Amino acid sequence: MKIGICNDHAGVEYKKKLVKMLRERGYEVVNYGTDSEVSCDYPDFAHRLAKAVETKEVEIGIALCGTGNGMAITLNKHQGIRAGLAWSSEVGRLVKAHNNANVLVLPARFISYRIASNIVRTWLDTAFEGGRHQRRIDKMPCR
Ligand code: RB5
Repeated sequence: MKIGICNDHAGVEYKKKLVKMLRERGYEVVNYGTDSEVSCDYPDFAHRLAKAVETKEVEIGIALCGTGNGMAITLNKHQGIRAGLAWSSEVGRLVKAHNNANVLVLPARFISYRIASNIVRTWLDTAFEGGRHQRRIDKMPCR
C-alpha cells in the first residue's frame, strides 16, 4: 500500500519517525511535508497531500500539525477527502470503522510519539464497517 504523509514544522519529528516505522512494516511512503522545523504554512502541504489522494497517486494519507486542526480543515475542503483527527487509538479505530477516513490527522503537539504510532497502526489495521456508516458518508457532500 502507498501512503502519503504531510506535515508542517510542528510535525517534522513525528513524521520522520512514522515514515521509518511504516517503511519497516513494508508500506511505501511518499513525503509531501516539510523536513525543516522553520515555521511554515500547513495549507501548502495539506493541499499537496489532498491532491495526491484525489488523483490516486497514493491510496491514503497521514497529516500532522500542532493541533491537527489546520491540516484537517484544509484537507476537508477537497471533495475526495475525508480527513479525521484522532488523539487516541480508539478514536483512530472509529475514524476508519465509522467515518472511513482516507486521511488520518494527528495533533503532534498534544500526543506522545508512542500514542501517535499506535493510532496510525490501529487506523491501518481497522476495516470500514459500511452499512449505516456508508449511508451517513453518502450524505456528507454539500448539495
Ligand atoms: C503552527 O504553529 C500551528 O499553528 C500549526 O501546526 C497547527 O496547529 C495549526 O492548526
